[in-house]
Amino acid sequence: MLDQLQTLQANALQALEAITDEAALEQWRIAHLGRKSPLMQVFGQMNSLPKEERPLVGRTANQVKNSLEAALQAKRHALQETALQRALQTERLDVTLPGRPLPLGRLHPITQTMRQIYHIFAQMGFQVYRSRDVETDEYNFQLLNFPPHHPAREMQDSFYIQTETDRGDNPILLRTHTSPGQIHAMRAVTGYHGRGALPENPPPIRIILPGMCYRYEQITARASIQFTQVEGLAVGKHITLGDLKGTLSDFARRMFGQQVRSRFRASHFPFTEPSAEMDIECFVCAGAGCSVCKHTGWLEILGAGMVHPVVLRNGGYHPEKYTGYAFGMGPERITMLKYRIEDIRYFWQNDMRFLEQF
Ligand code: PHE
Repeated sequence: MLDQLQTLQANALQALEAITDEAALEQWRIAHLGRKSPLMQVFGQMNSLPKEERPLVGRTANQVKNSLEAALQAKRHALQETALQRALQTERLDVTLPGRPLPLGRLHPITQTMRQIYHIFAQMGFQVYRSRDVETDEYNFQLLNFPPHHPAREMQDSFYIQTETDRGDNPILLRTHTSPGQIHAMRAVTGYHGRGALPENPPPIRIILPGMCYRYEQITARASIQFTQVEGLAVGKHITLGDLKGTLSDFARRMFGQQVRSRFRASHFPFTEPSAEMDIECFVCAGAGCSVCKHTGWLEILGAGMVHPVVLRNGGYHPEKYTGYAFGMGPERITMLKYRIEDIRYFWQNDMRFLEQF
C-alpha cells in the first residue's frame, strides 16, 4: 500500500510537469485529487487494513495529498504568471510615445486678417462697433453726402431689397460699404435723430466698424459680390489730418512690418474732405517694381479722409466745433497682397486645398 502511494505520487507529479493550460490542470486535479482518484480510494480502503498498518498508511496518504495539493497551487500560480508575461509581451504599450495629433479646424484667412486688424486698433484705443447689413438708401448714401445721381446708386451697383417704387426715395438695400455705420454710431453717441438743434457736448468717438458689404457686380478675379470692410471713425475736438496719417502709418507698420513705408495720395469720396488713399511700399519687391505692384512699387490698401462737415452734422456733431477722420479698408485685398493670392473667388469656394494653407 505504501509503495502504491509512492508510485501514485510520482505519476501525478510527472503528469503535472507536462501541463500548460488551465483546462488541463483542472482535469489533472479531478484525476489525482478528485473523489474518484486512486488517492481518495486509498482513504476509502483504510477500514479494510489491519489496525496496526492504518496510522502509517493514513499519515503517508495525507502527506501525498498535501504534496499534490501544494504542487497544484504552485502550478496554478506558474500558469497565471506565464499568462501575464505573455500578455505583457503581446499587449505592450509604450506610454512615452507622443500622441497622434487630432485634425483641428482653423480660422478662415479673412477671419484671421480681421482679428489682426481688431487687435492692432484695440491697442490704439479703438472699440469695435457693429452695424447692420441691411440698410436704407438714406444711411447708405444720402446721409453720407452722396449726390442724388451718384453712379454708385444705380441699380447695377447695389442689391435692392425693396425698390424705389415701394419706398419712394428711400429704398432698402444691402450695404455697399461699412460707412453707413458711421452715421449709426455717431447718432447712438449724440442721441441726434436728424431733426432739431444739435446736442451741446456730445462725447468723442474712436471705433472700428467691421462687416460684410455687398455689390451687384460681375464676379471676377478682382471683384466679388460680397466682401468685408473694416471702417474706422474718430470724432472729437482738435482731430487733424496728422492724426489720421499717424494712426494709419502706425497701423501699416504693425500689419505689414516695422520697415514698411506708406504714402497718401489725394482722392475723392463724398463723405470725406479732404480725401486720400493710402499706399504701402510693395513688400514683394521693396519698391523696385514687380508684377504684384504692377511695376509701381506701391500697393493701395485703403481709402480715408477727414469726415465731411455735412456727415458730422448728420451724425449730430457741430462741424464748427468737432472734427473727425474716417478710413475704410478691405481685408480681402490685404490678405491677397499678404499671401499673393491672385483670385478673390478662392475665399468663397470652400476648397480645403486652399483653406488648409492658412
Ligand atoms: N467707403 C469707402 C469705400 O467703400 C471707403 C472709405 C471709408 C473712404 C471711409 C473714406 C473713408 O470705398
